[in-house]
Amino acid sequence: MAEGQMTTEAETGREVGVSPRVFSGMQPSGEAHLGNYLGALRRWVELQESHECFFCIVDQHAITGDIPAEELATRILDLAISFLAVGLDPERSVIFVQSDVPEHTELAWLFNAVTPVGSLERMTQYKDKTARMESIPAGLLNYPILQAADILLYRAGAVPVGEDQLQHLELTREIARRWNARYGDFFPEPVAIPGVGGRILGLDGKAKMSKSVGNTVRILAEPDEIWDRVRTAVTDPQRVRRDDPGRPEVCNVFTLHQHFTNPDRLDDIANQCRAGTRGCVACKRILAESIEEHFREVRERAAELKADPRRVRAILEAGAERARSEARETIRQVRDRMGMDWRSAWG
Ligand code: TYM
Repeated sequence: MAEGQMTTEAETGREVGVSPRVFSGMQPSGEAHLGNYLGALRRWVELQESHECFFCIVDQHAITGDIPAEELATRILDLAISFLAVGLDPERSVIFVQSDVPEHTELAWLFNAVTPVGSLERMTQYKDKTARMESIPAGLLNYPILQAADILLYRAGAVPVGEDQLQHLELTREIARRWNARYGDFFPEPVAIPGVGGRILGLDGKAKMSKSVGNTVRILAEPDEIWDRVRTAVTDPQRVRRDDPGRPEVCNVFTLHQHFTNPDRLDDIANQCRAGTRGCVACKRILAESIEEHFREVRERAAELKADPRRVRAILEAGAERARSEARETIRQVRDRMGMDWRSAWG
């Protein structure tokens, strides 16, 4: 059978009545925090029940930030532990490290050919990150091309991400469209699967929860650390004294209660806040206890994994093996369509 016909059959097989393949990634820029959990990880765990999923630790994205080389390996291990501890299951999902699959960077380079610089320069994250930089690394501009390559290398149709990544996903769709227009229909235009609760604000109640801002709570934090962090959370600015009436609807602590505290208690928490009968410190105590309880088993599983890094290593290596075989096949077809399969062409 001719090469082209095999391709068509493979494509049809995937498209008919099968749920889309899922891909998502996370930077190993620190242990996962509540924003990562609500924006992404929680959905990832659900999706693996119904979809074929690929979850990637994107170390090649992380090096566009300022992570010291000597810390990267530990951060990869910590993030892998977070993935497994929240319930990602290596029997169901492919869990791996981006740099173990060199095809990611190869596809990113090939996508450079179809990506307008103007589209990259429009990215909000690029503008924010580079606003005060004197010399901008090219990697920050090209960052979303690598992200598009991550997703499209597996021809994934669904990408569970937090709100801050929607613009990058829109660019991924644009890259897929432009590539398909030039080289023939091959890549899907992936859709986002939003996380829980939109953009999760940090403890400052202002900025997105983010490691670089320092306003996070780590999902693997021990109870003392949870309280130390939650204690600092900014509440309703109009509530100056303990018995001033508060407004739960503008208070980020209440928003976090909605995610972590037993729903039966939420009315009481909101009413006591409005009446000024429970102070912010007492309210934060309840939140800290809820977070502590929510992640109790996750912390226990993480402790077991920390004691057995060889197990984590074996999981990542097996994941990379599976990812590589998919990636190799995509790259073979992409090279062929882009005219690089010169050996066959020469006959
Ligand atoms: P990263 O590593 O910054 O974040 C990982 C995931 O967590 C979500 N997230 C949040 N969601 C809600 N509120 C927050 N405060 C919050 N902080 C983080 C992010 O939306 C993301 O889903 N460029 C990506 C990583 C990446 C990727 C990919 C994602 C590389 N290749 C391919 C999807 C598909 C990033 O920096 O995410």
